[in-house]
Amino acid sequence: MTGKCPFSLEEEFEKFSSYSMTPDEAHDLIERARTECPVPYSRELGGFHVFMNYEDVRNGLLDFQTYASGPSVLRPYSEDMPVFPPSSFDPPEHGPWRKIFTGGVNVRTPGRIEPLVRADTIELIESFVEKGECDLHLDLAELIPMKAIFHVLGLEPELHDTLRKMNVELLAAVGEPEKFMELWVPFAEFGWKAVEKKKADPQDDYLSVLADADIDGRPLTPEEVGACVISLLTAGHGTTTAALTNLFYEVLRRPELKQRLIDNPEDIPLAVDEGLRLHHPFLGLYRMATKDVEVHGKTIKKGESVYMAWEAANRDPAVTENPLDFNIDRSGFQSLAWGLGKHSCVGRMTALMEQRVVMEELLARVPDIELTAPEKVKWDFHGAETQGFLELPARFTARPRRDS
Ligand code: HEM
Repeated sequence: MTGKCPFSLEEEFEKFSSYSMTPDEAHDLIERARTECPVPYSRELGGFHVFMNYEDVRNGLLDFQTYASGPSVLRPYSEDMPVFPPSSFDPPEHGPWRKIFTGGVNVRTPGRIEPLVRADTIELIESFVEKGECDLHLDLAELIPMKAIFHVLGLEPELHDTLRKMNVELLAAVGEPEKFMELWVPFAEFGWKAVEKKKADPQDDYLSVLADADIDGRPLTPEEVGACVISLLTAGHGTTTAALTNLFYEVLRRPELKQRLIDNPEDIPLAVDEGLRLHHPFLGLYRMATKDVEVHGKTIKKGESVYMAWEAANRDPAVTENPLDFNIDRSGFQSLAWGLGKHSCVGRMTALMEQRVVMEELLARVPDIELTAPEKVKWDFHGAETQGFLELPARFTARPRRDS
């Protein structure tokens, strides 16, 4: 591979971004560039290089000294935008921030909240089981991850709809710093007040961890506390929602696979992994070069942005066969779906559990469920790099509701 792009590809890539094209268009361009133009440059969003091949993305994620997460992993970057801890920090500052997050979301979390996630899932399924139809995105995938984060945070369920709306609006405004700040300030204030309230009655939850948190011995400011609450909500809601919708889409349009998962629910985690490999909630995120560096004969200059396109890396034919097939028996390579190294996903085990539980309950309760119009599914980007689709109608034999 060389850094010499054919002119036509170079020109096409100048307009590459999640704000200016659809996910299908982005992937089409990436697949045409993989070999001849492995590190192309886009002039969108302030300009950035793209890493798309597995080895490049893997090495880039691990090499935090060359590819920094600060000042932000989102583009366009504006100095007026607030900091997202722990994502926007690099070592050594990153460590103490990450420790706050892992204090509230860790190996114990999935076990602690699984019964609650299961109860929420059953309640939602019962709410539409008599109708014989539902929208799997709106009636299930959009709702469960926010409810799950509420259990992680230790927040009262009455605020669920308000915060879900605030979260979706905030992420959609990443490209508009002024609007973003208008939404951020009341959101952060809400987070800080919720943590203050917790101080009177601390529990085993993330807000209680924040109530007691410090950075190298100094207490967090109200703005920092608010930012920690917002970061967890943004990291864990839209991501898991998109992952669930994608999983339903891939499994339910394959009757044999669906039957295999009904007969062998222990295989559901394989489908979850494969769903995330093929369709990530976000194609990638950004880093900033801390020094001049040469990759495939091309110079990336200090201060320039690099897009780590991990979804493209997970589809790299150099590391996995027939990468566009949905194959739950795929093995032998490490998916980059959870990132890698210092910034790898804090909520991985929790997000895996959520998807497994929802799939288990859905297939057990309405095993004949099928998608109503899979051919109408249209992938799109929805701000801040998130991608997916916003409706997924399904039908099944109507059944009497079981009241709890
Ligand atoms: C299917 C759902 C999810 C996916 C695919 C996902 C994926 C990722 C990825 C790829 C990263 C690395 C970002 C980077 O390198 O810049 C990340 C970071 C992170 N994730 Fe997740 N995530 C999911 C769900 C969650 C959930 C449910 C939570 C919390 C409950 C969470 C919390 C975080 C946090 C706090 C970080 C930042 C870690 C750091 O910078 O040290 N994620 N996630």
